Amino acid sequence: MFSPEEQNFPLKKVKDAAKEIGTTNVVVLTGAGISVASGIMPFRGKGGLWEKYDPEEVANIENFRRNPKKSWVMLKEVLEVVEKALPNPAHLSLARMEEMGFASSIITQNIDGLHQKAGSKTVIEFHGNTTRLVCLGCAALYPAREIDLSSLPPYCPVCNGVLKPDAVFFGESIPRNALYQAHMEVQQCQVMLVVGTSGMVEPAASLPRLAKSKGAFIIEINPEHSYLTSSITTLFLQGKAEEVLPVIFEELCALRDY
Ligand code: OAD
Repeated sequence: MFSPEEQNFPLKKVKDAAKEIGTTNVVVLTGAGISVASGIMPFRGKGGLWEKYDPEEVANIENFRRNPKKSWVMLKEVLEVVEKALPNPAHLSLARMEEMGFASSIITQNIDGLHQKAGSKTVIEFHGNTTRLVCLGCAALYPAREIDLSSLPPYCPVCNGVLKPDAVFFGESIPRNALYQAHMEVQQCQVMLVVGTSGMVEPAASLPRLAKSKGAFIIEINPEHSYLTSSITTLFLQGKAEEVLPVIFEELCALRDY
């Protein structure tokens, strides 16, 4: 691993972040950037999914209902990548932080299930999870790996309704439980750790704003400035999640004398 001095984030900033995290109630908000090192492409920017596909066309619920096959071409590609992906050091560091009592929950916009694969227990899936499929006819849920995708779209084995990933499409609401739990967590946190999100998609992008309005300290990890950096972020660690989070975790262990 690189030493922090060799990266873009100075050790002093990492120590400051660890000090904030080590003393209080921390909630984590993650976005697509945390899974890039696991081989899952982000949505925006160079190499992003929306460079290849038009989100309005393939990830809008009305268009999905009209032409599910068209969306499923993209969805199958995403699912194949997600099913094979493994958690990277960023996911693993967050799981260890939760285990050691440094973080109370993770609110994730990601639909890849990698936080759970890494061992995180309290994960609020704000945009659902693509590894579960839901029937638009009878609402039955299926693990995606159990459904044959050789002919698209896949249909429900029970009622023959069209199956859709149990992830939030444009034009759909955030799952009610996730929205409620996320708001409860955010209102109680003293530190919010925001990792790998562009902060462009609502209502997730409003969560750091809500935390800040309640007095929380906002730590952001991202190699680029996001929509949140200049207006919301208190401490910006410019770097890749998979490099910065393990160093923060080491610092936290040092603070606790492990
Ligand atoms: P985006 O693709 O909009 O943003 C990804 C962010 O990750 C960018 O700010 C990158 O700079 C940053 N990033 C890239 N590599 C990174 C790394 N190694 N470590 C840390 N950060 C890195 O993804 P989200 O903000 O998650 O919604 O997108 C939000 C929502 O937009 C998604 O959940 C999805 C999409 O449309 C739905 O599907 C409803």
